[in-house]
Amino acid sequence: MKRIIDVGSGSGVGTCELALRFPHAHVVAVDASEAMLGRVSQRSRELRLADRVSTHLAELPGGLPQLAPADIVFASMFLHHTPDADEALRELRRVLVPDGLLVVIEHGPGSTNDHVPRIDAVAALAANNYDVIGERVSSGRSLIVARAASNQDFV
Ligand SMILES: C[S@@+](CC[C@H](N)C(=O)[O-])C[C@H]1O[C@@H](n2cnc3c(N)ncnc32)[C@H](O)[C@@H]1O
Repeated sequence: MKRIIDVGSGSGVGTCELALRFPHAHVVAVDASEAMLGRVSQRSRELRLADRVSTHLAELPGGLPQLAPADIVFASMFLHHTPDADEALRELRRVLVPDGLLVVIEHGPGSTNDHVPRIDAVAALAANNYDVIGERVSSGRSLIVARAASNQDFV
């Protein structure tokens, strides 16, 4: 496990948790908000993870190609924010290594949060040529693990 990209990282709680869980990985937090990325940097310094956590300012879709290939892309509570989730999923696919994993967390069945737009993440993943290989629903959130389908002609 070499590189993990946390898109829509927010303040970096998940970013730093990933760095702790994968002690040999470098984790890149990507967010459209400079203020959020500042909080990621602060959190990683406080947790002594700064040598393995970096930040990248980008507004998806767009802005990811210059990042090196990723073994895992983590997208927690991010997809429903993007103006074009399909294009964002295609872009994430381009940065994943073959056999890399995309982990998506979104509001799921049982969510009581009616204030945010919902996205059917499983359908969106299938429509963009990912194979969903696992889903767990807990406390109103769905965690979905997907792999880019083998048809590499799809871009
Ligand atoms: C609800 S927060 C999720 C934070 C964190 N991943 C979590 O699970 O708690 C969504 C984050 O996505 C960022 N964001 C929203 N639209 C974005 C876009 N198009 N490109 C990059 N980041 C975006 C926001 O700045 C915000 O920090």
